[in-house]
Amino acid sequence: MILETIVTTLGADGTPHIAPFGITRTGEDLVIAPFRPSLTLNALDATGRAVINLTDDARLFAGCLTGRRDWPLVPATVIAGVRLADSLAHWEVEVVRVEADPVRPRFHCRNVHEETHRPFGGHNRAAAAVIEAAILCSRLHLLPWEKVEREMAYLAIAVEKTAGDREREAWGWLSERVTAFRAGKPPTQPPATGAAAPDLAKPQALS
Ligand SMILES: Cc1cc2nc3c(=O)[nH]c(=O)nc-3n(C[C@H](O)[C@H](O)[C@H](O)COP(=O)(O)O)c2cc1C
Repeated sequence: MILETIVTTLGADGTPHIAPFGITRTGEDLVIAPFRPSLTLNALDATGRAVINLTDDARLFAGCLTGRRDWPLVPATVIAGVRLADSLAHWEVEVVRVEADPVRPRFHCRNVHEETHRPFGGHNRAAAAVIEAAILCSRLHLLPWEKVEREMAYLAIAVEKTAGDREREAWGWLSERVTAFRAGKPPTQPPATGAAAPDLAKPQALS
């Protein structure tokens, strides 16, 4: 099974980085598989540590994909790292093995500490639709335009029917990105989304 999460890492120079990643559970291992190039990959190589954050706030996924990476972070509890200040739970992990690959290495990690911060509040179709649309947005340069248009139109139904404020805001960011991509405009740097270190706000590189 793949869990859609937010991975937070520290680069070799201590700069925090935040990015959505699908995590695969393989036996005891939690596998993070970044496509090259990736700041998360560089950080895992340099430090061998990460925090896997579990969140029901779909804005994190849409935000990271549209350059809004300035989400509040706090120090991790047992590893040298950072975690989302606001999440349902987080797992602090250490890399135990790397499956080398020129395209997409697989970092096998072990959970060394976990904390639950809030109970899961239930499934929401709009949040799931936002995550699907965020994945679509990370592949705009690879996909036929008709597929993007068709899938966004389908996902919009769940957003229209079931979204709350957070999901509507996230959907707006992704819709803007798709429209700008269609118009051939380069992504622009969005305004800050919250109180956080300015060096977390950096232009988005699509995967
Ligand atoms: C839900 C979701 C899951 C993702 N999973 C992966 C993944 O497993 N591997 C990957 O390389 N990118 C994945 N991406 C895209 C990355 O988050 C994005 O390209 C990111 O910027 C990675 O590069 P970075 O480490 O330089 O930030 C995912 C995006 C979303 C929205």
